[in-house]
This record gives sequence, C-alpha cells and structure tokens, in this order.
Amino acid sequence: MPNSTPPKILVFAGSLRRGSFNKKLARIAAESVRKAGAQVTHIELNEFPMPLYDGDLEASEGIPEPALRFKELMKSHDGFLIVSPEYNSSIPGTLKNALDWASRSSPGEPALAAYDGKIAALMSASPGALGGLRGLVHLRAMLGNIKTLVIPEQQAVSKANEAFDDEGRLKDPKTQAAVDKVAARLVELAAKLRA
Ligand code: FNR
Repeated sequence: MPNSTPPKILVFAGSLRRGSFNKKLARIAAESVRKAGAQVTHIELNEFPMPLYDGDLEASEGIPEPALRFKELMKSHDGFLIVSPEYNSSIPGTLKNALDWASRSSPGEPALAAYDGKIAALMSASPGALGGLRGLVHLRAMLGNIKTLVIPEQQAVSKANEAFDDEGRLKDPKTQAAVDKVAARLVELAAKLRA
C-alpha cells in the first residue's frame, strides 16, 4: 500500500546566534516546506545544549539527554532541511557536534538510525558574496557518507545582512522563489521515498 501521508521534515539552522541570518532563512524555508505539503518540525539547536562529543563521556554515561532528544527527533522524520552558516569555508563546530552525536547508536540500535534512508536539502546565508556556499560542500559530503540522500538543489543567500526586511522576510522575490523551489523539490522527493 503506498504511503499517502505527507512526509515529515525537520528544519533547523546551524547557528545559535539570536539574530542569526541562517535562523531567519530557516524560518522562511520551514514555511516553504509547509506550503509544499510536508509536516514540518522547526527547531533551534539552542533547545539541545549538548556537550562536545567525548568518547569517554559516551562510554560512561551514554548519549547525553539533549543529544538523544535531537537524535530521536531526527529519527522520527523522513528528511531534513539544514540551513548552515559557513565558518572558515566549512560548517560550524556546533552543527558538526550535534550531527556527530546523532550518528551514535544507543545499545541495540541499528547503525546511523537517524540518517540511513533519509533525504536532506541544504541552504546557507552569509554576509559574504558566496552566501556560505563552500560550507555546504562539506555538509553535503558528510551527510552522503552517512547514508542520507542530499538533493542537488540548494540555495545560498549572499549579502545576508541586507537580504531580510524588519519582519524577517526575504526582500528579493527571486530569492524567495528559489527557496520555495528547493523546498518543493525536497518534499516531492521525500514523498516518493516514502511511497
Ligand atoms: C565566519 N563567517 C564566514 N562567512 C563566510 O561567508 N565564509 C567563511 O568562511 C566565514 N568564516 C567564519 C568563521 C567564523 C568563526 C565566524 C564566527 C564567522 C561570517 C559568517 O558568515 C557570519 O558571522 C554569519 O552571520 C554567521 O551566520 P549567522 O549566525 O548569522 O546565521
């Protein structure tokens, strides 16, 4: 029987900063994903304050509670839309750390349960001219290596310090349309994967 319920997509930004451009873009992208017909859960990584990954801590106490909550949330979704800043041409340690914890198995759990067979779309925002594009190359490679299909379409918002109005909306309708397009493709392919 084909699965006709809408796919569940988890949306989050890789920045903790209150005024984060990537958080603004994640808010907009979450709405685009919703409009495209998915069930959306929009979170902020601030809700999951986890320690730096430490194998000794994991061996003695298991996966810390905030990291476990984050992993369980990832497990319960069909796909992810991740909006990440670029730090020194890669992704922020905060995001990498959260994704690393989520890749760890609890006793008896199959490997990469949060990632295996999932689908993801990537976006970025930066005050720079490339919009954080170079960081997404690393994020794409990493997710692909842990069994998440990353769709080819992505959106990088350059000059992010000028891109949003006071209500947090994208000023340029073409950029908004591009975000909608990536979101729609993610939802379309996530639905096909579920079928
Ligand atoms: C940056 N920034 C940055 N920008 C960029 O386009 N390419 C880069 O390689 C870097 N590197 C970098 C390293 C570090 C440690 C920081 C703190 C910042 C600037 C970055 O894009 C800017 O601070 C954004 O505003 C960060 O995203 P949020 O927090 O606004 O979402």
